Amino acid sequence: MDLRLENISKNFEKHGVLTDIDFECGEELVSLVGSSGCGKTTCLRIIAGFEKPDAGKIFLNGEDITNVPPNKRNIGLVFQNYALFPHLNVFENIAYGLKLKKFSNLDISKKVKNSIDLVNLGGYEKYPISELSGGMQQRVAIARAIVIEPKAMLLDEPLSNLDAKLRIKMRKELKELQRNFEIPTIYVTHDQEEALAISDKVAVMNRGKIEQFGDPYSIYSNPKTEFVAKFIGIINEIPLSILNELDIESGDKKYFVRPESIEIGKGNFKGKLVDYEFLGSIIRYVIKYGDSLFTIQSNKLVDFKLGTEILFEFDKNSIISI
Ligand SMILES: Nc1ncnc2c1ncn2[C@@H]1O[C@H](COP(=O)(O)OP(=O)(O)OP(=O)(O)O)[C@@H](O)[C@H]1O
Ligand SMILES: [Mg+2]
Repeated sequence: MDLRLENISKNFEKHGVLTDIDFECGEELVSLVGSSGCGKTTCLRIIAGFEKPDAGKIFLNGEDITNVPPNKRNIGLVFQNYALFPHLNVFENIAYGLKLKKFSNLDISKKVKNSIDLVNLGGYEKYPISELSGGMQQRVAIARAIVIEPKAMLLDEPLSNLDAKLRIKMRKELKELQRNFEIPTIYVTHDQEEALAISDKVAVMNRGKIEQFGDPYSIYSNPKTEFVAKFIGIINEIPLSILNELDIESGDKKYFVRPESIEIGKGNFKGKLVDYEFLGSIIRYVIKYGDSLFTIQSNKLVDFKLGTEILFEFDKNSIISI
């Protein structure tokens, strides 16, 4: 099974929102990440059929669905606010789409039971939506999307209403569910860490374009543009003075180093500690070197006094050039 977007472009009142969006999603989870307004939701709405692209095509399992109406596409949708029916209970919410499709009551019970089991909500069938926690409502929304046995799943910031801990728990569950469904799944988030954690592939979007598409590791370790380097994770731009000392001809390239590639407490460069955050397993230091700030992540404890002079170094091999 696969979902393919071919050169999709979309303009709203002459202002371009999507330009040449072109990627493929097999039986895997592809995340769309990017800052607010870059076109993520518009992209999902086009796949779902709520918006028409001005150019380009969408294929689902090889079939051109660009002009197929939304209710005939058989795509499951989960939105940020879940859009559950507050006056219906868990069972009724999940059964809703099946009733519209005129399934028999027996089929409805079977299918709803299956999807309730998948999201671990057994025993909650009769609960009113208002008596469920955010995480449980989220699972009802997912169950409602999968009960129609969709050929693809679209999720638009499904976890952004949850607290940090629950978000991490739910993203693991979502990933597991996705592995069980084995259908193309497109996941929209502006949380780059979430995207790295759950995706098979990540599409980093900027102003309606995909800047880079690849697996999380290559996006992180080998960003192709400055935008991607800065959007995904934390990165330090290496100043000219350090490039000179390292004998690097800068040319018109820029050079960067990730916080975890810098060693602290030894080395040739000396800066001043201007900030730090103790995060438990690691400490994030901010060191001022000339006019540059370096963020360094380490599990090494140094003298925490602000203003202290601190040595640091990094291996030439860890430098990312763009
Ligand atoms: N129906 C519409 N009419 C006109 N402009 C629109 C419409 N829908 C979206 N836009 C514009 O398209 C751009 C992309 O919006 P979109 O909702 O896709 O962004 P997003 O990446 O999902 O952002 P967020 O992270 O804030 O949800 C924005 O500039 C928005 O104002
Ligand atoms: Mg959006």
